Amino acid sequence: MESPCDMNQLFSERISVLDQDLVGGRRTAGRPDLQHHIASVIDELGRASAKAQQLSAPITSASKLQTQRHQLYLLKDAEGCRGRGIIVGFLKVGCKKLFLLDRHGVHVEAEPLCILDFYISENLQRHGYGLELFDFMLKHKNVEPVAMAYDRPSPKFLSFLAKHYCLMENVPQVNNFVVFEGFFLNRAVAQLRKAPPKKPDGEIKPYSLMEREAVHREQRTPPWPFAPPHSPQRWASSQCSQSLSVGSSPCRTRPRVAPSSSPGGKWDQSPQSPAVDRCRAKRSSSLNRSHLDFQ
Ligand code: ACO
Repeated sequence: MESPCDMNQLFSERISVLDQDLVGGRRTAGRPDLQHHIASVIDELGRASAKAQQLSAPITSASKLQTQRHQLYLLKDAEGCRGRGIIVGFLKVGCKKLFLLDRHGVHVEAEPLCILDFYISENLQRHGYGLELFDFMLKHKNVEPVAMAYDRPSPKFLSFLAKHYCLMENVPQVNNFVVFEGFFLNRAVAQLRKAPPKKPDGEIKPYSLMEREAVHREQRTPPWPFAPPHSPQRWASSQCSQSLSVGSSPCRTRPRVAPSSSPGGKWDQSPQSPAVDRCRAKRSSSLNRSHLDFQ
């Protein structure tokens, strides 16, 4: 019998790109039974991300993915869960028509690719998985980080962008999206259009404030599908999570610029970059520990 825990059956690639069809690879095409499991995985991921960001409701779900023209990049570790695979995290992107202010305060209409949701399982954060996923998306979409807009990025995400892509100086906006210095440079004229200044905020922001209001309970252990219930790996990971993230999980606040003192990384989008290599070494030792604990 097919178990929902068998991520390697649901998702054939290390990184799967999902859209409205909810197809996780060759094996799941035309398999509504498997697609049902994929929908459950996406819903669970969306809930975990919402909790991590202190949102009252998920902004990612299977039903939303089926109705919106968004794409979801899903990263799995094929070795986890006794070789059945575990989900490490996801990144959701989509194009949005936005009314933005350029650095002179002029309203501009644009439809950039936006980062809408991004989540790495708590116990696996700061191991380079986020960078791997983000770099994959950049190559897949052939886009540079500075050319994208970010939907109310969390402090962790701002730190991530500053570290890996040197994105530190944002251009102040009146909505929840953040764009960085350089966004308005080198864009096709067709993509940018001067807009009348009197645009109400409601037309700009795709999500209501209600959707992103704070929830009070912080998630402490990764739920299925990140690790199966009651697994020793899950316990060990949770211990690891606390030591890795202690004191570094700031509350969800309005977007702000990452501190200029953040360690600056190189503008390097290659998955084979030294940054990626360093992260791989760090996480492989951690994963090995987890797997040993698990056995
Ligand atoms: N505290 C502060 N910074 C952090 C943290 C943390 N707990 N975790 C990751 N970062 C940033 C830091 O810059 C870190 O570098 P450092 O360890 O040298 O300080 C860097 O990210 C590490 O890079 P990766 O290991 O590649 O990133 P990771 O795999 O942790 O993924 C992500 C980053 C997705 C932001 C992850 O931390 C996460 O899921 N956070 C919780 C959910 C979240 O905030 N998502 C973003 C929502 S906003 C949006 O989607 C538009």
